[in-house]
Amino acid sequence: MIGASRGIGLEFVRQYRELGDRVTATARDEAGRLRIQALGAQALRLDVADPDSVEALPAQLEGARFDLALYVAGVSSTAGATQPPPRDEFDHVMRTNVLGAMQVIPHVAPLVEAAGGKFAFLSSQMGYIGGTDSSFGWTYKASKAALNMVVKAAQQDYPRAMMVAISPGWVQTDMGGAGAPMTPEQSVTWMRPSLDGLTARHKGAFLNYDGRRFKGW
Ligand SMILES: NC(=O)c1ccc[n+]([C@@H]2O[C@H](COP(=O)([O-])OP(=O)(O)OC[C@H]3O[C@@H](n4cnc5c(N)ncnc54)[C@H](OP(=O)(O)O)[C@@H]3O)[C@@H](O)[C@H]2O)c1
Repeated sequence: MIGASRGIGLEFVRQYRELGDRVTATARDEAGRLRIQALGAQALRLDVADPDSVEALPAQLEGARFDLALYVAGVSSTAGATQPPPRDEFDHVMRTNVLGAMQVIPHVAPLVEAAGGKFAFLSSQMGYIGGTDSSFGWTYKASKAALNMVVKAAQQDYPRAMMVAISPGWVQTDMGGAGAPMTPEQSVTWMRPSLDGLTARHKGAFLNYDGRRFKGW
């Protein structure tokens, strides 16, 4: 579980631990690491936007194999297309949501393949090109559409893993805000069976939290 210090990632840790699964999860800081550890999971430090931190990952994962890996780390932005995006905001969102996944995949996907497992990436309905009706959050939207492509492209190199992008819905977290209709518990409770139900025909797909595919994405 990559990016599990809080929000949806921490809830994934909580639910899988409750089911008795062995879980390894990452956080950027010590406070996040301790929240993961308190749920009985192995907690590692990882900042996906920092190449040095990602380079340190393989040594920490030596000998591991994963039935399920989740790339949850993400940051959002809200500005639309009436102004050019500030360069630092663009870099921050793209480095975390896209480059981070691209840096992590070559280290983690072989460990998923070794178990014949699944590798899911938290995308967003905002990355669904076919459903776009405003420019709100256009940098974030572009980052998640790019992530969907990253997943589909990488699937070709890791055929013994099943790789999907999945939207968690609109969820009450620091990112989603208090007005979101779903709690993290509800979102993860939807996503777990959707991930359980993946078959070979889902390889590289972009799914909603309930397991339905986004059409023509
Ligand atoms: N909430 C929603 O409504 C919603 C909707 C669609 C998609 N999503 C996606 O779902 C995922 C989880 O979102 P959330 O709602 O749980 O957000 P959140 O509460 O804001 O949590 C974001 C998580 O990503 C981690 N993260 C951010 N930058 C990172 C980095 N450079 N390296 C490692 N971890 C990093 C954060 O760690 P720190 O604690 O260290 O910051 C935190 O654990 C994201 O990919 C998001 O885009 C969420």
